[in-house]
Amino acid sequence: MITNDVKYIGVNDHNIDLFEGQYIVPNGMAYNSYIIMDEKVTIMDSVDANFKDEWLDNIKNILGDKSPDYLIVQHMEPDHSANIHEFALAYPEATIVATDRAFVMMGKFFGTDYADRRIVVKDGDTLSLGKHNLSFCLAPMVHWPEVMMTYDSTDKILFSADGFGKFGALDVEEDWACEARRYYFGIVGKYGAQVQAVLKKAANLDIQIICPLHGPVLKENLGYYLDLYNTWSSYKVESEGTLICYTSVYGNTKKAVDMLADELKANGCPKVVINDLARCDMAEAVEDAFRYGKIILATTTYNGDIFPFMRNFIHDLVERGYKNRKIGIVENGSWAPVVKNKITKMFENCKDLTFSDTVVTIHSALNDESREQIKQLAKEMA
Ligand code: FEO
Repeated sequence: MITNDVKYIGVNDHNIDLFEGQYIVPNGMAYNSYIIMDEKVTIMDSVDANFKDEWLDNIKNILGDKSPDYLIVQHMEPDHSANIHEFALAYPEATIVATDRAFVMMGKFFGTDYADRRIVVKDGDTLSLGKHNLSFCLAPMVHWPEVMMTYDSTDKILFSADGFGKFGALDVEEDWACEARRYYFGIVGKYGAQVQAVLKKAANLDIQIICPLHGPVLKENLGYYLDLYNTWSSYKVESEGTLICYTSVYGNTKKAVDMLADELKANGCPKVVINDLARCDMAEAVEDAFRYGKIILATTTYNGDIFPFMRNFIHDLVERGYKNRKIGIVENGSWAPVVKNKITKMFENCKDLTFSDTVVTIHSALNDESREQIKQLAKEMA
């Protein structure tokens, strides 16, 4: 139970291998759904297709043979919308509430936009359930165009759609920020400006509880979560430290990275984090890149371009609007190193990036000259 009238009817998924077809979720995933018990009984969102029966049973266990009055659809990504049509068939008297864009998507997913049993809502519209008054806050491109959030002014709950969500099922204890940050930068990170717009609207509301579509219901210390979302969506540096991301084919670039890490520490760098991009979880490396203010990219020339894992990593940063960071480069090439120029070219449309004056160039293996460059780069980055 979340409040006297609001109950949890979501599910935990421990069978999933990749969330959204790409993110590993070692602790599974939760698809949250809620029921508001009032004169008009209201369901907030559905769950993933694999959990249709469990979700409908959760509703039935609370309502018995009674029908809900409303299904509010805040987001049409199938991890939340997959069972709308099953719900509509199970409860033919219920009305579906969503934005016009969401109804267009329902037409595409289900072949019907429920024209005879729907309420189309716009930003600022309200819906009275009896005791509970809901108002709708559109959140376009956080991270789909049809997204809206819903504020219950009676229990002071913000139903935040994917916002404030995280990876991980609810029956596993784990740190919130780590998996929320990986989720945010992986899935929502490109849309910082849109998240900022929603946070500004939310600042005018008295929010006591946040009910997201993934991860735990947040009831205490909400300032902590709101501050982190403000930091992430404004691309500010969250933690002091330097991140080194590297690839190494035969170990020579790794030797340079090890020496660089030692030199950074010797120069007083408070924290050095290292990711081997060929072996780590790429989403973890991406969240680290947005967490720290300084990043060093160490990689080889390969087929006249940047080594593939590094090229993909930089692409992931650029498409998420990477900015406001300092970047150092270590390049390795046995006959024609091109990495420095290729990397700066990939970042050319990113704002507020600075590159270190020192670039370390290794020709196959470390020598006195490249060791000296590493010492110089460490001084500059620390
Ligand atoms: Fe959790 Fe964007 O769906």
